[in-house]
Formats: sequence, C-alpha cells, structure tokens
Amino acid sequence: MSDGEKKCGSTFDYFSYWQKRLYDNDKIEDCQERLFGEHQVPGKVLELGCGCGRLSPLFKDYLGVDLNPRAIEKAKATYADKKFKVADIVTDEIGQAENIVTCAFLQHIPDGLVEDVAKKIEAKNIMLFESVLEGYRAPWCFSHDYEELFGKAHYIESIPHTPARFMVFRRGE
Ligand SMILES: C[S@@+](CC[C@H](N)C(=O)[O-])C[C@H]1O[C@@H](n2cnc3c(N)ncnc32)[C@H](O)[C@@H]1O
Repeated sequence: MSDGEKKCGSTFDYFSYWQKRLYDNDKIEDCQERLFGEHQVPGKVLELGCGCGRLSPLFKDYLGVDLNPRAIEKAKATYADKKFKVADIVTDEIGQAENIVTCAFLQHIPDGLVEDVAKKIEAKNIMLFESVLEGYRAPWCFSHDYEELFGKAHYIESIPHTPARFMVFRRGE
C-alpha cells in the first residue's frame, strides 16, 4: 500500500491507474473554450492533470503537468509551442501561476489527498471543470465539495446533461 493509500484510507492507487491509462481525448468542447476563455486573468496558466494537453491552445503562457509520461510525450509532440512536464501533483512541487486550471483531474484525486493538493494552490484565479458525481463512487472517481476546499466560488455554471460543473475561485477579492 502506498503512503497516499494509507493516508486517505482508500485502496485506490491513483498513480498506477493513471500510469496505465492514457486519456487521449483531444477535442475541446465549445463550453470549455468559452468558459476558460472568459474567466482567465492575465498571467501564467498552470494546468494540473493536463493529459495530452488538449486545453493548452486556449492559453497563451501555459504549462501543463501530468503524471503519465506518455501523455506528456504526446502533448509535447502535438503542441510544440506549449510547455509540459511530468510530475505527480499529490507528492511533487507544483510551482505557481496566476491561473490554475483543472479539467476532470480533481475528481480523480482521493479524499484525504485532495485537501493536500488544494493547500498547494496559491493562484489568485482557480478555474475547475470537474464532475460532481453525488452518490456515485467508482474506485477512481471522487465527489468533492469544492467550496469546502477552495472557499466560496466566484462563479459556478452547471454543464447541461452532464455531471460537470465549471467553477471559478478568486483569491483576494
Ligand atoms: C480524465 S484525465 C483528464 C485529462 C485532461 N485534463 C483533459 O481534460 O483532457 C485525468 C488526468 O489526470 C492525470 N492525473 C491523475 N492523478 C494525477 C496526479 N496525482 N498527478 C498528475 N496527474 C494526475 C491523469 O494521468 C490523467 O491524464
């Protein structure tokens, strides 16, 4: 059992799961383009759990981080003008940026570890596109209370016909 598993009391080993599973969706939904476009603030963008980097074209000064080396290799090959690096966001230093972006990432971080990730984030603008699957818990899906983790949301939009929500948290307002 890994340290992470011991800490959150879950037997879900997110590291092995995402090392094996390559999430290589490369389509940006219209609503994602609109929402991330409208709600970013000037400055750097750091995407946590960026997968193969499909959202990177939406941002100018961008760094994507993911634990899966194959995803980062594909992202670098596809979006040569953007920066990407391999890191485990739970255990490694993540660095900081004015904007933090996540899309279908925090929903896969187990309870007990997601709090540690939230504490690492110092950005003034946090934009999350995450599913809230109340009452449904596949071993690799977690339904978090994002306002408990990040404080009162500045903006929330539910995505019709999906369990996804787009949420913005602004620090210092
Ligand atoms: C469902 S995919 C979403 C990928 C991307 N955000 C997108 O929307 O296309 C979840 C991603 O989170 C990554 N991931 C999961 N746990 C991670 C961790 N602890 N550190 C870094 N990346 C992680 C996985 O490798 C995977 O690429």
